[in-house]
Amino acid sequence: AAADHTPALVIGSGYGGAVAALRLGEAGIPTTVLEMGALWNRQGPDGRVFCPTTAPDHRSMWFRTRTEAPLATFLWLDVVNKDITPYPGVLDRVRFDAMSVYVGRGVGGGSLVNGGMAVTPDRDYFARVLPHADAAAMYDTYFPRARRTLGVNAIDPAWFESTEWYRFSRISRAHAARTGLATTFVPNVYDFDHMRREAEGTAPRSALAGEVIYGNNHGKRTLDRTYLAAALGTGNVTIETLHRARALRPLPGGGYVVTADRIDTTGRTVATREISCRRLFLAAGSLGTTELLLRARDTGTLPDLSEHIGSGWGPNGNVMTGRANHLWDTVGERQSTMPVLGIDDRANPDNPVFAEIAPLPTGLEHWISLYLAITRTPERGTLTYDAATDGVRLHWTPDQSRASTASAKRLFDRVNARNATVYRYDLFGGNRAFADDFTYHPLGGCVLGLATDAYGAVRGAPGVWVTDGALVPGSIGVNPFLTITALAERAMDRALAEQPS
Ligand code: FDA
Repeated sequence: AAADHTPALVIGSGYGGAVAALRLGEAGIPTTVLEMGALWNRQGPDGRVFCPTTAPDHRSMWFRTRTEAPLATFLWLDVVNKDITPYPGVLDRVRFDAMSVYVGRGVGGGSLVNGGMAVTPDRDYFARVLPHADAAAMYDTYFPRARRTLGVNAIDPAWFESTEWYRFSRISRAHAARTGLATTFVPNVYDFDHMRREAEGTAPRSALAGEVIYGNNHGKRTLDRTYLAAALGTGNVTIETLHRARALRPLPGGGYVVTADRIDTTGRTVATREISCRRLFLAAGSLGTTELLLRARDTGTLPDLSEHIGSGWGPNGNVMTGRANHLWDTVGERQSTMPVLGIDDRANPDNPVFAEIAPLPTGLEHWISLYLAITRTPERGTLTYDAATDGVRLHWTPDQSRASTASAKRLFDRVNARNATVYRYDLFGGNRAFADDFTYHPLGGCVLGLATDAYGAVRGAPGVWVTDGALVPGSIGVNPFLTITALAERAMDRALAEQPS
C-alpha cells in the first residue's frame, strides 16, 4: 500500500485524542486522527442515530451477537440483554479473566456512552497519585480550561428539588443524611436546560428517555460537538473512521510509521494502510494505548520503551451495588439517566469513598437505590503482550477487587443499618450484592512520570506522546474524564511549546 504522510497523527478520538486534535489544528499543524469506531451522525430508519437502551439493536455494541449490559439481570430474569447483529456499535466490553472493561467506540470515544459526570478530583489525592503533574498548574489552568471547553454545567438546585426525574437521588440523599453522610452535587456535560425542556415536553427526550450507555440522541455535549467540532473547524484536522491502528515503527531519520487496518461494518479488514508522521499522539484509551506500546516494545519495533509500560493499571476502585428500599420510599417510575449527586465520604481517613447515586430507569417503580462507588485501593494490575494472540493480557485477580468491595460494603452497611434496609442480590448475576468484576474507568498502563516524562512524552520514543487515561496510575478517586482532559491539555501545551509547528 502507498504510504500516506501527515505531520501529526493522533490515534483515538476520545478525550485525549480530541484535545490533541484541537490544539494541533489550532497551531496550524495538519493532523490526521485514526479512530477504529464509526462516526455517529446519521439517522437510522427509525429516525435515531443511537438505539434506545430498552430496545438495543446492532448499533448498541461493538461486534456482538448479544448485548452485554452491566446489569445482567433484574429479579433474576435475563430481561436486559437482547440478540443483535454484529456491527461496529458504540459500546464495547473487553473481557479479561477477572475484569471486564467497558469502553466507548466511535468518534468521541467514551463521551458517547458515559454518564457525563465531570468531577474535579481532591487536590491532595491528585497530588499523591500524580506527583509529577504540578497540581498548581492543573488546578489554576488546566482543570478550568477542560471544564470550559467540555461545556460542563450544573443542575439548577431548585429544579432538582422539585422534579420527579430526580426523586431517586433525593431518596438516597435522605438515607445518606440519616447515616450522617454528606452528599454533593456533581457537574455534568449534559445540557441541563435541554433536560428541563425534555421534562416540560418542549425538547426531544434523551436523558429522560433512558438513553445513556448506547449513546444519547440529544442533550449531551459529547466530544464530537465540543473539542472535535472545533478541531475540524480549524481546517487542519481530518478524522479517518473504522481505522484500527495496529503497529508502530520508527522511520530512519525521525518520525514514525503507523500500520492501520481499515474495516467495514461487518468487521472485515478491507485495506491495510501505512501512514507516516513526524509526531505521534497516542490516545486509544488505557487499554488501546498500552497495547500499541507493549506490542511495539516486545516485538522489537520500539525496543527502547520503558519497562514501566503495562504497569500501574487499575479500575479506579469501581464497585456497583444496589439497596432495596422500604415500600414507602419510592424512587419513582421516572428517572433521568444523568447522575447529579454523590455520597461524598472522601474526607473519611478510615474509608474514603465517593459513591455516585446512579439511576436505574426501567419505567417501573422498583424501590432500588443503585450506586457506583469509587473506592481507593493500592491494588494495581499489569498488562502484558501475548505473542500467541498478538493481543494483551490483564493480570488482575479476583482478590485484587476485594479491598474495593470491602470499602464499599463498609459504607453501605452503615447506610443499611441506619435505614433498616438491605442489599439487592438480583442485579449482577451470581446472587451477589456487589459487582467488582467490571469497570467503566480503566486507567493506567503508561503512567505519567514513569513510562513517560512529567508531561506525557514517551520515554525511548522521541516525538511520541500519550494524552489519554493510560497516564493515570489506576485510581483518581472520582470519575476520570475531566482529569484525562486536563492532563491532555497540559501535555499539548508542552508538546507545542517544545516544537511549535
Ligand atoms: P477513550 O476510551 O474515551 O477513547 C479512546 C478511543 O480510541 C476510542 O474511541 C476507541 O475506539 C479508539 N481506539 C482504541 N484503540 C484504537 C486503535 N488501535 N486504533 C484506532 N482507534 C482506537 N467518566 C467520567 O468522568 N464521568 C462519567 O460519568 C463516566 N461514565 C462512564 C460510563 C460508561 C458506560 C463508560 C464506559 C465510561 C464512563 N466514564 C465516565 C469513563 C470515561 O468515559 C473514560 O474515562 C474516558 O472516555 C477515557 O478517555 P480516553 O481519552 O482515555 O479514552
